[in-house]
Amino acid sequence: MIVAIDGPSGSGKSSVAREVARRCGLTYLDTGAMYRSVAYLCLERGVDPADDEATERVAREARIEFVPDGEGQRVIANGEDVTAQIRTPEVERAVSPVSANPAVREVMVALQRAAGAAGDVVAEGRDIGTVVFPAADVKVFLCASPEARARRRAVQRLGGNLATGDVVEVDAEAERTILDDLVRRDAYDSTREASPLRPADDACRIDSSDLGFEEVVDAVVSLSPELAARAQKGRS
Ligand code: DC
Repeated sequence: MIVAIDGPSGSGKSSVAREVARRCGLTYLDTGAMYRSVAYLCLERGVDPADDEATERVAREARIEFVPDGEGQRVIANGEDVTAQIRTPEVERAVSPVSANPAVREVMVALQRAAGAAGDVVAEGRDIGTVVFPAADVKVFLCASPEARARRRAVQRLGGNLATGDVVEVDAEAERTILDDLVRRDAYDSTREASPLRPADDACRIDSSDLGFEEVVDAVVSLSPELAARAQKGRS
């Protein structure tokens, strides 16, 4: 079975997709980490992310693997563990032009489909329900207000996680900068020509602004009898 979860940065997609996968015995596929890995490899090799042809070559040569690690997973790109490196502000800046490159998307979508063909998957990203798996069994578009998303990101950067109740004090100035970046990235992701961020017509929209983490996960699981049965089986 394929579960597609799309939405903007900071909507809680990653935590929710990972937890749905854990509860329902599915494999979690973080497609954002794939675009981030290509952006990281470009920066490492001195390739300008705005140079479409050079970036496409980097994407074609990239071997991206996900290795389970305790509750999470590590991201390995061309044999190097890049789990932390792909979350830096430098990579965040480089990933927009990389992911707007149609040739890069073609390579990544083929890899994502291959991962889906191999088994039961919860994939999260921007174009999963619209392009990668248009026939997914369950499609969710997870959104939240820009302010709620900026707060989550700010807490995350300081090592906290609002999803798990691990709250840390954040600096208002830093939160403002994150909000500005996020609004800019949303606009870029939603207006780019190649697979812009938009909900699939048949996606179920969930607004997580005022919902707790467990409530969002429960809402996703309850969308499909098969998911609910899998979660039930996982508990017993
Ligand atoms: O979800 P994220 O923040 O890790 O995504 C990183 C970037 O990759 C973001 O700018 C959007 C882009 N992306 C995309 O274009 N398509 C996807 N399926 C996943 C991510």
